[in-house]
Amino acid sequence: MSVLAADNVTRHYKIGGRHVLKAVDGVSFELLAGRTLAVVGESGCGKSTLARLCALMEPPTAGAISIAGKPTAANQSLQLQNQMVFQNPYGSLNPRRTIGAILVEPLTINNRGSKPERIAAARRMLDRVGLRPEAFDRYPHMFSGGQRQRVAIARALMLSPAVVTADEPVSALDVSVQAQVLNLMRDLQDELGIAYLFISHDISVVRHMAQDVLVMYCGRPAEQGLRGEVLDRPLHPYTRMLLSSTPFVDPARRRMTMPVRGELPSPIDPPPGCAFNTRCPYAADRCTVERPALRSVESRLVACHFAEKIATEAPI
Ligand SMILES: Nc1ncnc2c1ncn2[C@@H]1O[C@H](COP(=O)(O)OP(=O)(O)O)[C@@H](O)[C@H]1O
Ligand code: SF4
Ligand SMILES: [Mg+2]
Repeated sequence: MSVLAADNVTRHYKIGGRHVLKAVDGVSFELLAGRTLAVVGESGCGKSTLARLCALMEPPTAGAISIAGKPTAANQSLQLQNQMVFQNPYGSLNPRRTIGAILVEPLTINNRGSKPERIAAARRMLDRVGLRPEAFDRYPHMFSGGQRQRVAIARALMLSPAVVTADEPVSALDVSVQAQVLNLMRDLQDELGIAYLFISHDISVVRHMAQDVLVMYCGRPAEQGLRGEVLDRPLHPYTRMLLSSTPFVDPARRRMTMPVRGELPSPIDPPPGCAFNTRCPYAADRCTVERPALRSVESRLVACHFAEKIATEAPI
């Protein structure tokens, strides 16, 4: 069952009255129950904007989001089905409220259960995310970043959503704590069957978490499909470049990568044709005039004119 779907979703911002910044420009995907779709790409490629659109925090300028198979345009109540966990565990929890109050609040706002039932549900959730019962009466500043992120996850789960959108949920945490929080998210997924829209710039985290991967460049999908296809046999030069930043043990996979070069172009004035042409070692004349369509090549979708050639060529 599709719990979250994006159909050609677009978000353009007007900048200074004259320019249009295409933060998200034609993204489609389907997220099935109990699965994780990772959205990956460099900072500024539109990941957080896509997350906000999917969590119905702002409307798309074009295209449509569906939750549980229903179009969300006229039905904001579907928002309850997609809860959000943010990157910054220090800013996302109200410092003046106890952890217990933070967890009870979504139930109160949505008239779920009696007061004792809400408190009992919040206490059960604390236990589920691995926090001690005493946490209930304590304030966010008394906890570490990893513990606060456990609270943020607990809060997101209080209304039993079908999807949790997590925007770089471990990027602000120490590496030693990251794995604990990621493993907690995976355990909760196994236990509750929730789906994750998992936003990350870190390929090794994505590899650990997701079955499906969407690689974004300048607001557009570059490559998307099953993790085993996209990350183990990448066809888009940009995916190969992203992969070069992760250590591999397997030399066959290392050959599938290429060095990072150049920088992300200005999102207000991206290069014509394929936006990656300023950094791409395969770029040809065609790439500067014709934007590559997203199309099916070797069991995944890829937006590159030369994907077939790159697939057969010795990796550089
Ligand atoms: N509310 C906004 N108004 C104008 N520009 C925005 C807004 N939100 C994001 N952007 C721009 O959209 C682009 C994508 O941003 P973002 O979605 O935050 O990317 P990421 O999360 O991948 O780093 C960036 O160039 C950013 O400056
Ligand atoms: S379309 Fe051209 S510039 Fe774009 S990724 Fe493919 S080869 Fe590189
Ligand atoms: Mg972001």
